[in-house]
Amino acid sequence: MRLVFIGPPGAGKGTHAKILSAKYHIPHISTGDILRAKINDGSEIGKKAKSYVESGGLVPDSVVIQMVKERLQERDTQAGFLLDGFPRTLGQAEAFDQALCQVGIHLDAVIDFNASLKTILRRLTGRRMCPKCNANYHIANMPPKKSNICDECGSALVQRKDDHEETILKRLEVYKKDTEPLINYYRKQGQLKEVNADLEVKELDVHLLEILKSVPAR
Ligand code: AP5
Repeated sequence: MRLVFIGPPGAGKGTHAKILSAKYHIPHISTGDILRAKINDGSEIGKKAKSYVESGGLVPDSVVIQMVKERLQERDTQAGFLLDGFPRTLGQAEAFDQALCQVGIHLDAVIDFNASLKTILRRLTGRRMCPKCNANYHIANMPPKKSNICDECGSALVQRKDDHEETILKRLEVYKKDTEPLINYYRKQGQLKEVNADLEVKELDVHLLEILKSVPAR
């Protein structure tokens, strides 16, 4: 299964990508997670990306496209993959189509997570992350067992630098301008499936599984 999740920040792409990648045994590839790891490592790509990621802008296409191409050459992607947060611009989508075409593979579905502004703001301002193992929590919807401590590794949870209201609003503007046009791009290709991302985790998971069951096996 080869899938792409698109949708505004905080719509639940990462949360549901983790659940589905475990169910389908395919890697969850989040460009946001890869960029944050590179920033923490202090690598050259991380140095280039830091100011864009922390201010809610987009990292230049050339950097992200190269990063995704390299990741998709790893062996674990042979049986499929779930891309979360890529492509995010028309330039990225076109380069991705070309790269897939060159190796003769197709996407099975592009899932658009459609969430209201109220949901987005509530989810992002309440999100907490584990800086060590990347586990994702929400102070009200998915709280850790012990307040502010990661269930998986015991580290203190943090709020992402781009999860403050001003930066969230900037990310939403960037989403509308640069990423929303991809909805029509993939609709025209007949690959788009839409979900109501305002649903709670269990209900949305059921809906996603129904959609994936209807995707023809290649
Ligand atoms: P990235 O990390 O991809 O951020 P994003 O797309 O803005 O998405 P988020 O991670 O904020 O939200 P999500 O939809 O995954 O929500 P989540 O599941 O965590 O990118 C960050 C930055 O990196 C970008 O701004 C950019 O600078 C750069 N970047 C990344 N990719 C790039 C690219 N391709 N090109 C250029 N630059 C790029 O859920 C949010 C919260 O809600 C969580 O607390 C969760 O617990 C809760 N929740 C989730 N689902 C539900 C549900 N169904 N019900 C109740 N609560 C829920």
